[in-house]
Amino acid sequence: MTFRLGPVAVMGLGLLSAMFTTGASAGDAAKGKVLAYTCHGCHGVPDYKNAYPNFRVPKLGGQNEAYIVSALNAYAKGERPHPTMHAQAVTLTDQERADIAAFLSAEGGIPGKEVVGTPPPATQTCVACHGADGAKTIAPDYPKLAGQPADYLVHALKDYKSGKRKNAIMAGIISGVDEKDFEAIAEFFSKQQALCTTDQVMKHGKCATE
Ligand code: HEC
Ligand code: HEC
Repeated sequence: MTFRLGPVAVMGLGLLSAMFTTGASAGDAAKGKVLAYTCHGCHGVPDYKNAYPNFRVPKLGGQNEAYIVSALNAYAKGERPHPTMHAQAVTLTDQERADIAAFLSAEGGIPGKEVVGTPPPATQTCVACHGADGAKTIAPDYPKLAGQPADYLVHALKDYKSGKRKNAIMAGIISGVDEKDFEAIAEFFSKQQALCTTDQVMKHGKCATE
């Protein structure tokens, strides 16, 4: 039998090397569970608050895997400012970030059957990307908003508006949204179902401690 290196095989090799040069391979959730131990101190405590400014820390359980990796990369690079999260993220290798994301994304995230309450008019543009319920996002690296604490969501929107948190897509969107609507938008998405704290799993539509 002769072996011919056809165009398809060559393309395959190209892809393979591209995967290796980006650093991390697919995340290992079992390793991620061990690495995420230090994260529970804040992200595992329901209603745990960040001081100055005061807001509840974001829920990570059930968040999209690719988005978690992208957030950690942004903290490490300083594109997203937060001293504690920068300190956490810089110590992690690309592979460790992928492992943690694999673990956390599997911890919940089951969207509710229907949208809770009436979406305020200002959410009309948001749902195109984040999903009608803030859970079924159109891209894997877009974040779920469903169940995120309302005060965290307001904080995030303010940071996009002021340019403290840099993202080309959200910067464009938020420039067209009035700050007085942030509260209503945040309330709506916080009431939807998907995200849990890091030590919880989704059981019968509710976040529950294992
Ligand atoms: C001392 C408390 C604390 C610890 C410990 C901590 N975090 Fe955070 N984390 C925060 C706060 C506060 C924010 C929101 C910061 C901001 O404004 O961007 C955050 C944000 C995040 C985000 C972005 C979430 C989103 O929705 O955009 C990710 C991802 C994250 N943390 C992962 C981790 C991981 C992984 C660990 C453990 C290795 C960890 N954090 C440890 C307090 C903490
Ligand atoms: C064109 C797609 C798109 C639209 C439309 C959009 N977003 Fe986003 N949104 C994104 C992306 C991408 C990110 C991640 C940006 C980053 O990494 O900081 C994001 C991030 C966010 C975050 C941060 C979540 C977190 O966990 O920290 C909030 C809050 C948010 N969007 C709210 C909104 C609201 C409210 C609207 C409508 C007024 C909206 N978005 C419209 C794509 C979109």
